Parts: sequence; C-alpha cells; structure tokens
Amino acid sequence: MKQNTQTAVIVIPTYNEAGNIGKMIDYLNETTFPYIEKKNEGLTADWVMKILVVDANSPDGTGKIVQEKSKKYSNTYLLTETTKDGLGAAYFKGFKYAMKELAADFVFEFDADFQHPPETLPSMLKAMEDGYDYVIGSRKIKGGEEPEGRDFMRMLMTEAGGFVARFILFFPFKHFWDVTDPTTGLKVTRVKGFIDQMSFDFDRLYSRKFGYKVQLLLETLNMGAKFKEVPLKFKNRSAGESKFESDTTTEILLSCFKSRWFDPFIQKFLKFGIVGGFGFVVNTLGAKIFKNIFITPESNLSLLNGLCNAAAAELAIISNFIWNNLWTFSKEKIDPSKLLPKFLTFNLSSVITGIIIPSTVIAILTSLFGDQLFLYQIIAIFGLTIPLNWFVYNKIIWKK
Ligand code: GDD
Ligand code: MN
Repeated sequence: MKQNTQTAVIVIPTYNEAGNIGKMIDYLNETTFPYIEKKNEGLTADWVMKILVVDANSPDGTGKIVQEKSKKYSNTYLLTETTKDGLGAAYFKGFKYAMKELAADFVFEFDADFQHPPETLPSMLKAMEDGYDYVIGSRKIKGGEEPEGRDFMRMLMTEAGGFVARFILFFPFKHFWDVTDPTTGLKVTRVKGFIDQMSFDFDRLYSRKFGYKVQLLLETLNMGAKFKEVPLKFKNRSAGESKFESDTTTEILLSCFKSRWFDPFIQKFLKFGIVGGFGFVVNTLGAKIFKNIFITPESNLSLLNGLCNAAAAELAIISNFIWNNLWTFSKEKIDPSKLLPKFLTFNLSSVITGIIIPSTVIAILTSLFGDQLFLYQIIAIFGLTIPLNWFVYNKIIWKK
C-alpha cells in the first residue's frame, strides 16, 4: 500500500499562558496525538503531528515551560519573539517557521487556553484528507457553541461584529452564508498552493493583532481554497486572562474594510468607475468646447449640437480605452499588435452599450410609463451601460 505521510504543525501563539501551555502540550502529546495515530474517526494518513509555540517573550515564564517540554517531546518547538508583537505577527512568524524548518503540509491556528478543544483536531485532519484546503472551526453551525456564562457585551460584540464583518467581507453575499464565523481563531490551512503562495512580509498586514484573521480568511478564499466549517465547541478560558482589548472589535472591522478596499477586484472596479466618470466629463465638456469653437451666427444648431456631441463622445471613448488599458487593466494590457482591432471592438461595443441599447430602452420606457427622461437615463446608465461595459471589458476586450 502507498504510504501517505502528512505533517501538521499546530501553531500556538502565547502571551502569559504559563497556567495553560504546559497542560496543553501534555494533553496534545499524551491524549490527542495518540488518538490520531490510531487512526480514529476514519483517518487514513500517517499524521506526523508537531507543536510550535510562538511566545511573545512572556514575562510569566511561558517560554521556560515550553523549553522544558521540548526536551521531553521531540515534536514540540519554541519560537521566541523579542516582544509582544500582536497575534497576526506571531502567526506570520510561526507559519514561516513551520514551512521552512518543520516541513509542514498543514498549519493549524490554535489557542493555548483550552478554548479550542483538542478534540476538534481529528475531524479537521479528516477534512484535509478528504481534499479540503482550508477548514474553519465555527461556533455558529450545528454542533458548535459559545461557552456558558459569557458576558453580554462580549457576546454582542461577537454577534454584531461577526455579522458586520461578513457583510463587509463578502458583499454582495459571496460566501456570506457559508462562512458563519469569520473571526474564529481555530483553522487549518494547506501549505501547498496556499500558505506557500503567501507573502509573510509584516508590512502587508492591515493589523498585526487580531484583525489579521479576516485578512487571511479573505485572501485564502480568494486563492480558491476548497473550504468547509466544522463545529467548534468554544470553551471558557481554563486559566489566565484574555488578550482581547477594548479596541479589538474596531481593529477587526477596519481590517475587513481594508481587505475589501485593497481587494484586486474592488480596486479594478473603482478604477473602471473613475475612468468612466472622467469619460463622462470629456464627453460633456468636449461638446461645449467644440461648440464654442465652431459656432457661427449661421450655424444650424441641431446639426452642430449633434456633431459636437458625436466628436466629444468619440474623444471620451478614446480616453476610456487608453486609461483602462494603462491603469484599470494594467495587468491585462493589450499586446501592441492587437491594439487596433481591440480598439475597434471597443468602439463598436461602446456604441452598442452606451447609445443603442440605452436609447432603445429609454424609448420603450417612455412609451410605457410616460416622459421621465432624466430618471430613465439614470436607470439606463447604472442598470445597463455600466454593468454591460464591465462585462464586455472583462470578458472580451481585456480578457486574459
Ligand atoms: N505571541 C503572541 N502575541 N500571542 C498572543 C498575542 C500576541 O500579541 N495575543 C494573544 N496571543 C495568544 C494568547 O496567549 C492565546 O494563546 C491566543 O493568542 C488567543 O488569545 P486570547 O487572549 O485567548 O484570545 P480570546 O480568547 O479573547 O479570543 C479568541 O476568540 C476570538 C473569537 O471570539 C481567539 O481564538 C481569537 O483568535 C478569536 O478571534
Ligand atoms: Mn482565549
């Protein structure tokens, strides 16, 4: 039979977890790992389980305890930070180390304080064996739960924060329903194709603290990870204090917002909007300028207006084409040899999406509902021209 050995590294960031970390390392090594080794819960692979504690140089001696344990268990490692640097930064350091030094195939995000029951790990490994790339522990799905006696404010923060986070991260509802717990701290990610494709440059973190998790969540999903949620029975902290600060919720929501704002898709759409808006200015202003230049006392005004608008519209089309090519779709920039045919296609499609279709619809609306030109124009521009252009640009003109 083919041997199937996989290495999973459980990354555990710690700050002042002296009351928990020793017990946690013992529990994982004495109870959880042997259970996994016996291939319980339908596991089939030979799992090599490792623990990597990333300690923020805790003053309470957490690091010392881990060091002692690493003498006892050869699969247990300690990475010491110079100072408390935030949860996100700790995971970045841990992932890099797990990949480079510990030959990780999978990396877990895991808390030291027993709020994440180690009993959840086998089912997450099973999902990885089944081909998932990203498995998330959720408190919100069937079988998951919040600890008893949670204080009302924290509960409200989780509920409202989770909802708003999902709304910002996933609008218009992509993954809104299938990611139920966006701020959960329990996850496992496949290294190949995902963790090994990420940059672990700290500067790119919108938040070095708890907010990192929504950023990584969105990035991993955008990389096309096949993901699933498993129920997480979130417990009360077994000892010590939470590092959740009063500004943590704001910080997470800000990270959601930034993750979305700097998302390549949104950036592209914003640029497309700006270029389109500029085109509109070129069109209206251009027509005025042409008119001022060419008008004489003998001018046929209707012919002049028509011609001036046509010339200015063409200028706007040229402007749109140039700026979209250089800026919006800079990554899909058209090969110089194809510039002319693409420009002609662009021109034709602009006439269709910008004049023929909206004008026809405006005419039909007028005959159906009466004379409301301005309203119909707004409907036509936002409901037809903009979405149609977006579609044509992406699927035809700048298709990669
Ligand atoms: N190295 C390092 N540096 N570790 C840290 C830091 C830091 O700056 N901040 C926190 N940790 C460690 C803690 O010692 C603990 O092991 C783990 O990260 C989680 O921190 P907690 O303080 O226990 O967080 P929490 O219980 O309030 O929050 C949990 O639930 C949230 C969802 O409500 C965590 O699982 C969060 O990740 C999760 O978002
Ligand atoms: Mn905790």
